[in-house]
Amino acid sequence: MGRHHLSSQINFTNVNTTQAAQTAKQWTEFLLHNNFNAGFIREIDMSANCPAIFDNDGNKFCINFVDNKQNYHKKKAGIKSELISKALGTGRYGLKVLDLSAGLGIDSVFLAQLGYEVTALERNPLIYLALNEAAQHAADNGMSLNLKFEFGDSLNYLLQNKNKTDVIYFDPMFPEKTKSALPRQEMVFFRNLVGSDDDAAQVLEAAMSFNGAKRVVVKRPIKAPQLLNPHSSTEGKLIRFDIYGVRL
Ligand SMILES: C[S@@+](CC[C@H](N)C(=O)[O-])C[C@H]1O[C@@H](n2cnc3c(N)ncnc32)[C@H](O)[C@@H]1O
Repeated sequence: MGRHHLSSQINFTNVNTTQAAQTAKQWTEFLLHNNFNAGFIREIDMSANCPAIFDNDGNKFCINFVDNKQNYHKKKAGIKSELISKALGTGRYGLKVLDLSAGLGIDSVFLAQLGYEVTALERNPLIYLALNEAAQHAADNGMSLNLKFEFGDSLNYLLQNKNKTDVIYFDPMFPEKTKSALPRQEMVFFRNLVGSDDDAAQVLEAAMSFNGAKRVVVKRPIKAPQLLNPHSSTEGKLIRFDIYGVRL
């Protein structure tokens, strides 16, 4: 079994191809550069289509848009009918979406499949790397998406960036247990990795005054309190979209 130790902290296994070695090197440099605390990561297995990240309890985490384990290819009723798209205005404010919380990329991929042009931000360096790898793997497998991931904190982006967007989408981590897209053990790992996004209300405030944005939509579990007082809401079975109209 090939091994790749570029730092004492991160243990890459099954590094058996030049490509895998290159990815392991890039990931290590990026994680070190961004002061990622790899304390509870046991190994990153490079043998599969998506690098499989294991924590010390053996919980596994992997992002792959192609194999659809996390329901990336949802049934699409179309840009005019899907609840998430209705919340965003079905394209009438424009198709550029800034997703402030990429996470597993499920919503970003879905929006891109509906026809939106998505820029998705993620502040966790390991998740960002996994998303980027997944996007590359999707492209290599003929899945063409108008979607790019950027690394960084959304609050900084909103305060510093002058790029225009039409609408903004935000799905911060909710602290309580809710039904999730991930199997339980992966959810435990994901929660440990990203924490609870306690700055969400502050991010929303910045989003509401961001350059060009006509609407900000926040996804919440159906019973969760609102982050701020929305203009309106639209409800599904388990989730709710709170709509903040910036320029209606
Ligand atoms: C609940 S998950 C989002 C799930 C995502 N909507 C999906 O469909 O997979 C929240 C993610 O947003 C990221 N996040 C939350 N607040 C952020 C911020 N201010 N800047 C950048 N990323 C943020 C977290 O690190 C986490 O990965």
